[in-house]
Amino acid sequence: MDNRPIGFFDSGLGGLTSIPHLMASLPNERVIYFGDTARTPYGSKAVSTIKQYSAQIADFLVSKNVKMLVIACNTISATCLDDLRKRFPHIPIVGIINPAAHKAANTCTIDNNVGVIATKVTIASGVYKDRIEELNPDLHVHQMATPAFVPLIEEGIIENEIMDLTIHHYMDDFIKDNNIDTLVLGCTHYPIIRKNIEKIYPNLRIINPSYEIISRIQTILEKEDILANELNDRENIFYASDLSENFTNMITKVMEVEESSLVLKFKNLDL
Ligand code: DGL
Repeated sequence: MDNRPIGFFDSGLGGLTSIPHLMASLPNERVIYFGDTARTPYGSKAVSTIKQYSAQIADFLVSKNVKMLVIACNTISATCLDDLRKRFPHIPIVGIINPAAHKAANTCTIDNNVGVIATKVTIASGVYKDRIEELNPDLHVHQMATPAFVPLIEEGIIENEIMDLTIHHYMDDFIKDNNIDTLVLGCTHYPIIRKNIEKIYPNLRIINPSYEIISRIQTILEKEDILANELNDRENIFYASDLSENFTNMITKVMEVEESSLVLKFKNLDL
């Protein structure tokens, strides 16, 4: 038993899309979340920069005595997982790509075609394609970078025609030309536009890594014997490197709670 918090992090608010699933499955657990809202997006940055930023975030969360680190960001998981495991060999570190790749590899598709949409860096790494095709050699993975989604989502441009047009622009030919019936939302921001995608392509089967990661977290907490118990009276704490109005608006929307019920804190890692 261990009532210390789990450290969750992302380049911005995308990783928040995992937290309601965590709370539903493991209600005794508490989190310290860090969103690097001042430096988002990471998905078009140099890998060396992403490594430097994610090491800073992990150092900060470890200084808060977390019992586990969860990389709730595909871009960081695709590029920094091994480095972070070397940096903190004694803390369990969960990446988001492997659980989602397993789900994709075990999902039936009509034509054996799986689509992955993600940031430029995640797509360039090829990790989703490599892992899914390794787990299920019958599948063909088609991937595409969709870099305009994250800035629009961080700005709250979601339930309107600008987002829908952007989805059409990126995805119409991609889905049609490759006969895709199963799509991995390979960026933790994308569940926020899941309803838009489902409205435009109602027959797509959608795989959500922000959800798939939860069973992996549970397995490791059980294996390490560090599950929290019902006496856990800590709070969830949400840090952001830029505590802007955008962040507070989006966090209440994603978490579906009032701002007054959240502990929000500013932390600039450059200072
Ligand atoms: N949410 C992040 C991911 O899952 C990336 C967003 C960004 O580009 O910063 O890849």
